[in-house]
Amino acid sequence: MKTYAIATIPGDGIGKEVVPAGRRVLEAVAAASGGFAFEFEDFGWGGDWFRAHGEMMPADGLAALRGKDAILFGSAGDPHIPDHVTLWGLRLKICQGFDQYANVRPTRILPGIDAPLKRCRPEDLDWVIVRENSEGEYAGVGGRAHQGHPIEVATDVSMMTRVGVERILRFAFELARSRPRRLLTVVTKSNAQRHAMVMWDEVAAQVAQDFPEVRWDKELVDAMTARMVNRPASIDTVVATNLHADILSDLAAALAGSLGIAPTANLDPERRYPSMFEPIHGSAFDIMGQGLANPVGTFWSCVMLLEHLGEAAAARRLMQAIETVTATPALHTRDLGGRATTAEVTQAVCRQLAAAAR
Ligand code: IPM
Ligand code: MG
Repeated sequence: MKTYAIATIPGDGIGKEVVPAGRRVLEAVAAASGGFAFEFEDFGWGGDWFRAHGEMMPADGLAALRGKDAILFGSAGDPHIPDHVTLWGLRLKICQGFDQYANVRPTRILPGIDAPLKRCRPEDLDWVIVRENSEGEYAGVGGRAHQGHPIEVATDVSMMTRVGVERILRFAFELARSRPRRLLTVVTKSNAQRHAMVMWDEVAAQVAQDFPEVRWDKELVDAMTARMVNRPASIDTVVATNLHADILSDLAAALAGSLGIAPTANLDPERRYPSMFEPIHGSAFDIMGQGLANPVGTFWSCVMLLEHLGEAAAARRLMQAIETVTATPALHTRDLGGRATTAEVTQAVCRQLAAAAR
């Protein structure tokens, strides 16, 4: 029997609730599927680790993750530590250290979910946003000088390399080709940002020549927000820069009913390193420790983890169980207007998996 080594990193806030829930669900799906098992190792990195050790994760932490088949991550963020410290000290350290350059964010309106758009049927909103995950606005290049003085200066430089742009576009075209509609929207801001974004447009046109089966169009990021609201059915696969896609994916999640449902995969498509799967909601300190967190974003991320491992049948089985549970209003958590707890939703998904296996 195949055993997959999974690192779990709950991180901070509700990450500590949803990651254990995800682990239970992965165990249940393995039991229901047969043929494979998981071996988990938990890493207590994040805000508490920072308070004890002065860093978000150990300096040699990547080495401990290196041999894993995948990483399940919760969230990083602590009310008492600056956000840029928690982000760069943990999540970005892993994403950039393992060159997980493709961030994939599917969005659908799951059964039973009340989405805010009036004229949007569930079948009109079935998107995957591909976010460049290694450079651009998150390159970390810049600096500050003369702090506190009137002449203080600060820069954040967005770095785009041809290699970085070409590999994410190629990934997006391949993903678009694998989906039924074979439709890709390339998002930029190449009217205002007249260097790197113009290079994106050029590289997109070049890469497109290798994908004659894919219909593609271009959209400026501001116009894209309006198109997502007004013409959702005109969109299928989307590719954008690190920051643009960060913003668009929050809008996408909200249009699909809740940030609590949305999943993410941070992929190294070349599989040189482990990939990392996480819900896109943050640490949500306002509800932490109360058992109110929606674990569905983590469960859907587990579906993506299974797909990445090549366990397609198990991934379908888990997605089916999730959708059966979201279709039941009594099993909605507070973010969806319901009163169910994290534990109740987790139990329901596990029970559904066991029942479907019989
Ligand atoms: C996301 C999040 C992060 C990001 C935050 C927590 C820094 O918003 O994954 O979309 O901007 O990358
Ligand atoms: Mg975001």
